[in-house]
Amino acid sequence: MCGIVGAVSSRNIVPVLVQGLQRLEYRGYDSCGVAIHRAAVVGGAVAPAGVGLQRARSTARVAELQTQVTQDQLAAGTGIAHTRWATHGAPAVHNAHPHFSHGPGADAASRPARVALVHNGIIENHDELRAELQAKGYVFDSQTDTEVIAHLVDALYDGDIFQAVRTARSRLHGAYAIAVFHKDEPQRMVGARQGSPLIMGVGEGGGEHFLASDAMALAGVTDQIVYLAEGDVVDVQLGRYWIEDTNGQTLTPAQRPVKTVQAHSGAAELGPYRHYMQKEIFEQPRAFGDTLEGIEGIAPELFDGQGEQPAAAWRVFKEIDNVLILACGTSYYSGCTAKYWLEEIAGIPTQVEVASEYRYRTSVPNPKTLVVTISQSGETADTLAALRHAQSLGMQHTLTICNVATSAMVRECALAYITRAGVEIGVASTKAFTTQLAGLFLLTLALAQAKGRLSADDEARHLKAMRHLPVALQAVLALEPQLIQWAEQFAQKDNALFLGRGLHYPIALEGALKLKEISYIHAEAYPAGELKHGPLALVTSAMPVVVVAPNDALLEKLKSNMQEVRARGGVLYVLADADSHISASEGIHVIRLPEHYGTLSPILHVVPLQLLAYHTALAKGTDVDKPRNLAKSVTVE
Ligand code: G6P
Repeated sequence: MCGIVGAVSSRNIVPVLVQGLQRLEYRGYDSCGVAIHRAAVVGGAVAPAGVGLQRARSTARVAELQTQVTQDQLAAGTGIAHTRWATHGAPAVHNAHPHFSHGPGADAASRPARVALVHNGIIENHDELRAELQAKGYVFDSQTDTEVIAHLVDALYDGDIFQAVRTARSRLHGAYAIAVFHKDEPQRMVGARQGSPLIMGVGEGGGEHFLASDAMALAGVTDQIVYLAEGDVVDVQLGRYWIEDTNGQTLTPAQRPVKTVQAHSGAAELGPYRHYMQKEIFEQPRAFGDTLEGIEGIAPELFDGQGEQPAAAWRVFKEIDNVLILACGTSYYSGCTAKYWLEEIAGIPTQVEVASEYRYRTSVPNPKTLVVTISQSGETADTLAALRHAQSLGMQHTLTICNVATSAMVRECALAYITRAGVEIGVASTKAFTTQLAGLFLLTLALAQAKGRLSADDEARHLKAMRHLPVALQAVLALEPQLIQWAEQFAQKDNALFLGRGLHYPIALEGALKLKEISYIHAEAYPAGELKHGPLALVTSAMPVVVVAPNDALLEKLKSNMQEVRARGGVLYVLADADSHISASEGIHVIRLPEHYGTLSPILHVVPLQLLAYHTALAKGTDVDKPRNLAKSVTVE
């Protein structure tokens, strides 16, 4: 995925680039770097010929890059910067962006760099292009697919960087957003996007211009944003810019309007918390309350479209006869939970698919399907591609549950529900998940209403239960000291098993995901009835088994499954609720959630699992907010 930021200005742009990188670290943090054109001197003038490109790169975090930049006294009006999530080539300095091209020849490295380039995405034909460029004498310094683009642009350059990028674009297969400049054009930068996000920012007075992966990178710098479309190439200069579409047509301002976007800086204060994840877990009562604010009753209008081709939800809800949910990661598990609600309460057949699988399999399209994408970021490449795939199959009724109102997902879906979790910084998703569940429960009720399955009494009862949830969540958060005790034991383990049944099976899946992604303990989740069909073979006294056990229709069956574990010496960690009637005894640890919450109980039961993962990671000393190898927003497939 990676994050990109670039600028052409008459002021020193390096602080803006470094700050932008800090805000883009959620897209990856394996390495980072910045390159400037030293001829674009501060004040808007151009230095005499001979002053060239300079860069600083680091495999540490952006804070370390800042130190390097200060030591090297990097300052210029033109620059690009990048934070990386490694796809091709290990996270090492020589693979860090920006990549330079010094031109062809074995001695090229001794000559000044000619092209500086940053890239987000994957170039699928990089091997073929590398061979071609090597045959022309280009020497490669990295294992990245990105360096191929830098050399390709250099090979095609004939005095006009815009033309070179335009031509290079036709040779690239795969996904990319790039920002690039050339040594001979100090006050010019070119951007292009295909399959990866890129926006342009117009600075004060229209004099300076920016490129970035998202508007958040430019928060506080400019709120005047142009969303580039697939295939766009943008020429960014001091005081002017123009955009061409994929067919080479110059676009008018009406075709790519400048929008005022209030992006959060993301630089939220930690307050009394040690990590963003902990803060975000504790923000859930507030986030849930905000998500419900202003909702007086259930109405399809809550889901009316906000995108490029908005639709009226009531009309769509009347027409559809099934739901297809597409999502990745934690968002996928919120979809799995919603399936139970949609089928039980709204009586609508529902499928949930991992977006990266759906987009490549042959499925049977049904135009009466409501395609629901769920995404915190609204930029996940696989989910966006799955949405577009569904649309290409003739399914035009699309809805997204999304946390970012300005995202591609919201723009591309006919209907939307914006969760109000606020900016989520910790890579492990927490408050986004519970607010997605809030949105999905409201969707269930709205669909039930459209299908004549929601009485006024039921509506009032469900809304009352939802409104009480912030208080109930607070009571669950108060269980933290007990979860710290469990976490101390989990931190000694190599494996863990999570069990749930029905509505709480997806919660067990989410609990296992949380534990593995931040504490690196191998964790798997099973519907408890499946235990005897395989995973029971793993159960010994060294295997902690977490059981999500509220009092529901399957509780007695779950208790039998727990006996199966105890009989093999497995140690149980049970999350019961006020009505579960499970007591602690030898080999059975119990934490009792204060209330019994019925249909909405997944929203409460996931919280102790988040706390368990958090405190286990803390006990193990891992990087909680930035776990190894992961990223917050995954904009490559
Ligand atoms: C990444 C994140 C996960 C997230 C998933 C889907 O893998 O680390 O926390 O659940 O992407 O992201 P989305 O923004 O589409 O919800």
